[in-house]
Amino acid sequence: MFNVLEALPPDPILGLTAAFKKDARTTKVDLGVGVYKTEDGRTPVMRAVKAAEQRLFDEEDTKSYIAQVGVEAYNDGMIKLILGAGHNAVRDGRVRSVLTPGGTGALRIGAEAIKRMNPTATVWVGDPTWANHFPVIQGAGLKTEIYPYYDQASRTIRIDDMLATLADRAAPGDAVLLHGCCHNPCGADLTLEHWQQIAELLERKGLLPYVDLAYQGFGTGLDEDAQGIRLLADKVPDVLVVSSCSKNFGLYRERTGSITAIAQSADKAGAAESHFANIARAIYSMPPAHGGFLAGMVLQDEQLRAEWVAELTEMRDRMNGLRALFVSKMAEKTPGQDFSFIQRQFGMFSFLGINHAQIARLRDEFGIYVVGSSRINIAGISEANIDYLTDSLAVVLVD
Ligand code: LMR
Repeated sequence: MFNVLEALPPDPILGLTAAFKKDARTTKVDLGVGVYKTEDGRTPVMRAVKAAEQRLFDEEDTKSYIAQVGVEAYNDGMIKLILGAGHNAVRDGRVRSVLTPGGTGALRIGAEAIKRMNPTATVWVGDPTWANHFPVIQGAGLKTEIYPYYDQASRTIRIDDMLATLADRAAPGDAVLLHGCCHNPCGADLTLEHWQQIAELLERKGLLPYVDLAYQGFGTGLDEDAQGIRLLADKVPDVLVVSSCSKNFGLYRERTGSITAIAQSADKAGAAESHFANIARAIYSMPPAHGGFLAGMVLQDEQLRAEWVAELTEMRDRMNGLRALFVSKMAEKTPGQDFSFIQRQFGMFSFLGINHAQIARLRDEFGIYVVGSSRINIAGISEANIDYLTDSLAVVLVD
C-alpha cells in the first residue's frame, strides 16, 4: 500500500524551522514559526509554570486517566479567563469548556461539533488566515469559503467587504471563523466597532461565531484581548471559542487548549460539553493531563497567577518594543518606505509585504527566515539582530 504514497513537501511553517536549524551561518535569523523568544533567543518555561510543575511533581500520585472533560480547575479558569468571572453567561452557568490537545485539537473538535449541529454548514474563513485552519476544518468534512479580511496595499482591514460578503453569501447555520486577537498572520485586529458590526450581522443572519483565541494577553492585555469575544457573548446567542495555552503559558509542547461553548441555557451548554467529550473519545479517547494541571494551578492560585501575569506582561511589552524599534530602524534605513503600520498591529505577527523573490533573497543571501507570505515573528527580532535584519531588508527592498 505504501507504494502509492509520494512524499509530501514540508509544511510551509514547520519546514522553515527545519531549514533554519540546518543553516550553518552564525548571523542567521529565525522569523518563522510563532514561538516567543527572549533577547537571547530562548523560549523559556514561564516562572509560574515551572513553580506549578514543581508542585505537581511533589503532589501527583497517579498517572491514571483524568476526566473526559479534562481538569476542572483548568476548565473553570479558562472560562473565566475568556469571559471574566463576572460575565452574565458565566454567572448563569451557560458556559462549558473541555480540555483539548492544543488549540488545534480544539479547532478540530469545534469543526466536528459544527458538523453535528449542521451537516451542510460552510465555515467562512478570512483571507488571510493561519494556513492550518483549512486542513483542520476540512478534515472534519466541512466546506470552507473565504471572506476578505486584510488589504495588503493599504494595510487595513477590509471590514466593508467582509461584512458584505458574509451578508450576501453566508447561509443561516454557517459558521464564521474569527481571530479573537493578535491576528495570525497579519497582526491587524478588529476594533470594538468592527466587533459590534460583526455581532449584529451574525445575530441577524443566524451565523455561528467560531473564534480562535490563540494569543490572549499578547496584544494589549488579558481582558482587552478578549473584548471582542465578550461583546459577541453579549449579542449573539451561541458562541464557540477555541483557546490555546501554547503562547500565553508557553506550553507549546504540552498541547494544552480548550473548546468552549457559550450557549443560551445551562442545559444546552451541558449538551455541547457532552458532544465535545464524545467527539474527543472517537479521535483520541482521553485528554492529555499535564498542561491542564499546570495552567489550572496557575489560574487558580493567586500568587502563581500574579507571577504569570507579570511575565506575560514583560513578554508583551518586549514584542511591542520590538515593533517600535523595527519601525524606527526601517525609517532610518529606507526613508522612502513606510513600515509604521507594524506599530499599529498586535501580537506576534505582521506581514512585511515583500514579494517571493525578496523573501527568497533574505533566506538565501542573508540567512533570514520569513514565512512565504512575508509573515514575520516579531519575537524573533532582538537588539542583537535588529541592525543586521534591517540592513539586509533595506538591501533587498532597494534592488
Ligand atoms: C504559527 O503560526 O507559526 C504557530 O501557530 C505554530 C504553528 O503550528 O504553525
